[in-house]
Amino acid sequence: MTLDIAVNDAAPAPNREKPTLPDAQTVTAVKHWTDRLFSFRVTRPASLRFRSGEFVMIGLPGDNGKPILRAYSIASPNWDEELEFYSIKVPHGPLTSKLQHIKEGDQIILRPKPVGTLVLDALLPGKRLWFLATGTGLAPFASLMRDPETFERYEQVIMMHTCRTADELNYGRELVENLRNDELLTELYGDSFAERLLYYPTTTREESPLMGRITDNMTSGKVCADLGLPPINAQEDRAMICGSLAFNVDVKAVLEGFGLHEGANSEPREFVVEKAFVGEGI
Ligand code: FAD
Ligand code: A2P
Repeated sequence: MTLDIAVNDAAPAPNREKPTLPDAQTVTAVKHWTDRLFSFRVTRPASLRFRSGEFVMIGLPGDNGKPILRAYSIASPNWDEELEFYSIKVPHGPLTSKLQHIKEGDQIILRPKPVGTLVLDALLPGKRLWFLATGTGLAPFASLMRDPETFERYEQVIMMHTCRTADELNYGRELVENLRNDELLTELYGDSFAERLLYYPTTTREESPLMGRITDNMTSGKVCADLGLPPINAQEDRAMICGSLAFNVDVKAVLEGFGLHEGANSEPREFVVEKAFVGEGI
């Protein structure tokens, strides 16, 4: 698939005969995890600087030639030479019904204007940082978990990821396992690095070693008991939330119940929230 349309928002250069493709990037790898989930990597625009956890607009030309663009969290850390994305395949979804067929060498559109609230600068310093995600809401944390700055700011990072079925956890599971065995990180932080990145994957609609919704496992104290952590408190714990609107609303209430407050880039506090997708009820 090669983009043969102008995808530049900038004012057209009147003397140019051919359309320019300044926002096209080349796909370098694709992996399908389930029939609903895949990840892919693309070349990184030389000028693109972003903070781990931010999102950009990506897309493909639609049938009428107009780009179909959607927000996507960058799943790779800011030091990576390429960009990685972790995607849903929505049946009949305008973008993902096409995007799921991309192959190495194809081009996608990528607007190099990163934004987002799930950034380390939006949180106050603390001891532990919780990443709370359902489904593809894992993507910004796949970036932040791979950013050494996360471990410079926090003693422990806890990745809670919940999906309906066990196979939907595999992208995150593989990523955490690779990180825990990463020689460079172990060299940087010592053998205890594996204990600094805690992982709590759960399913809700299929038997697996750990079960239940994130909200329930936090409220009951089960996750803290299982991981040997003290009860969540506003002095030591910080959190980032990324899931459906209903998930975000419910987790926010749980964190507020523990005395934490929502922050923003302009006013760092104890937790921040971002939607993993725009869905029903919005
Ligand atoms: P759309 O018309 O966009 O969506 C159709 C319906 O599918 C939605 O109404 C919703 O009910 C459902 N849906 C859409 N996206 C998802 C999803 N990710 N998980 C479950 N259900 C969904 N999507 C990703 O796959 N990976 C990301 O990293 C990602 N980051 C995002 C970051 C932000 C800030 C926002 C707002 C959205 C993000 N999304 C992400 C969603 C993405 O923008 C698109 O909605 C998605 O790619 C589907 O596009 P579509 O055109 O096929 O269908
Ligand atoms: P459940 O199976 O109990 O609904 P979905 O696929 O619907 O987006 O959900 C992804 C995961 O998030 C599922 O495991 C689901 O659990 C869980 N989930 C959905 N809504 C909430 C919520 N409001 N609070 C906590 N977990 C939720």
